[in-house]
Amino acid sequence: MDKDSPLETRVSRRKVLIAGGVSAAAGALPTVATLANEATTPSVARPAVMSKVQFEVNGKPRALEVDTRTTLLDALREHLRLTGTKKGCDHGQCGACTVIVDGRRINSCLTLAVMHEGARITTIEGLGTPDRLHPMQAAFVKHDGYQCGYCTPGQICSAVAMLQEVKDGIPSHVTEDLTARSTLSAAEVRERMSGNICRCGAYSNILDAIDEVAGGLA
Ligand code: FES
Ligand code: FES
Repeated sequence: MDKDSPLETRVSRRKVLIAGGVSAAAGALPTVATLANEATTPSVARPAVMSKVQFEVNGKPRALEVDTRTTLLDALREHLRLTGTKKGCDHGQCGACTVIVDGRRINSCLTLAVMHEGARITTIEGLGTPDRLHPMQAAFVKHDGYQCGYCTPGQICSAVAMLQEVKDGIPSHVTEDLTARSTLSAAEVRERMSGNICRCGAYSNILDAIDEVAGGLA
């Protein structure tokens, strides 16, 4: 067959695509979820590589030695016994694990503990105390911003950091004028909080709580 014929060309392309797919798969990096699964599931376990990490959690210096595949979420919950931060999906889809790291909210299930050497981490336990609630915690209580409460620590950490993002002038996906300071409308808050899912559907009360702490939405 003529090597320039259409069929040969198609076959060649197919071979290239298959070869490319194989090499891409071989070169793909494992996700944090895959690594965390390996670290906690004996049937797929590979030998642990331990590493030391130090960070500040809720104002206290903490030093750990963890399997390098340990997520920040598992380090907080399983190693430091800070179980206020919740594990919902463990895949970056629900926001239940939201904590504040160096002033920015992140999904702690999507990041490895050893990536945060020297970081300043705030969890729900560090925002307020039962006697002295953080204003956002008090507003959630006042406005009934929860039902089962499972998503609530993540919602509150997210809301606190979100208001700081607005103060810092960081735009969101629905900000219309990127050259103007962000204004805080209900639509903005809904967009900015869209990474935090509430299966009980307490969204309107959560919005009321954030409205109060923000001093009124536009
Ligand atoms: Fe991290 Fe759901 S547990 S996003
Ligand atoms: Fe139940 Fe939000 S209060 S999931």
